[in-house]
Amino acid sequence: MNDGDGTLAANAQGRQFGPLGTALVIIPTYNEAENIKSIVGRVRKAVPEAHVLIADDNSPDGTGKLADELAAEDEHVQVLHRKGKEGLGAAYLAGFRWGLERDYGVLVEMDADGSHQPEELPRLLTALKGADLVLGSRWVPGGRVVNWPKSREFISRGGSLYSRLALDLPLRDITGGYRAFRRETLQGLGLDEVASQGYCFQVDLARRAVKAGFHVVEVPITFVERELGDSKMSKDILVEALWRVTVWGAGERVGKVTGRGGQARRTPPGSD
Ligand code: GDD
Ligand code: MN
Repeated sequence: MNDGDGTLAANAQGRQFGPLGTALVIIPTYNEAENIKSIVGRVRKAVPEAHVLIADDNSPDGTGKLADELAAEDEHVQVLHRKGKEGLGAAYLAGFRWGLERDYGVLVEMDADGSHQPEELPRLLTALKGADLVLGSRWVPGGRVVNWPKSREFISRGGSLYSRLALDLPLRDITGGYRAFRRETLQGLGLDEVASQGYCFQVDLARRAVKAGFHVVEVPITFVERELGDSKMSKDILVEALWRVTVWGAGERVGKVTGRGGQARRTPPGSD
């Protein structure tokens, strides 16, 4: 587990980690026509062996068509067209299923708007060699945000702090969306039961990974606020996050009192 200062404690329990395999970078999009070409080009340059899957929710601004053009000229780029806006969580679940049906060894989450810098992806992948899940973290030493309004920083820090305390998670950036999963990690999270639609999807997956005993490592990142297009953050997304985290936290507390635990804590993979 991360010791909180951003350094790695890989193989601390003597765990052996297998080779990583090919990475699939999943980029969910809703109205990202101004950003999609740039972000895909940057990923392809930063990690040429990786593949890219754009998961577009039928964006009215034509992002899906631009994505098709990128896919037509590059066999490392593919597009998952979804029928309409169903939220970040649903788009990632569909993208994960798509990747797990194929033989990708690593599945990466990345925003389309440049906030998650593809140039930092090699560092996340290096850390994943000794981990089950790597979180790009703004709130460990060395991590930072650029150009974010104080109000957004407050919501993000507050969201992570509340989640950390309510869910008893030893993590600093629990809501972030720049992550690298080993395929075996995703397969062990019970994705079929995930109901989170908005950005609380990120909290949901982090909590499931910790409870399942996976080795989760935070790597500092520089999160750069988008220059083009608009954030899809909304009051509904915040409200969903607040009630879900509160319900999960209450469930854990009831579980502790009755001795059942909020969720079964499994033996860490490979430790037996
Ligand atoms: N397919 C699809 N469907 N994509 C979506 C949807 C949706 O309903 N909603 C948002 N996205 C995509 C956006 O197009 C973008 O690529 C990415 O998800 C992130 O959306 P933003 O709207 O740019 O998020 P943000 O910058 O406000 O929030 C960031 O911080 C949150 C809190 O830390 C992101 O990194 C979130 O992942 C993170 O939870
Ligand atoms: Mn953004």
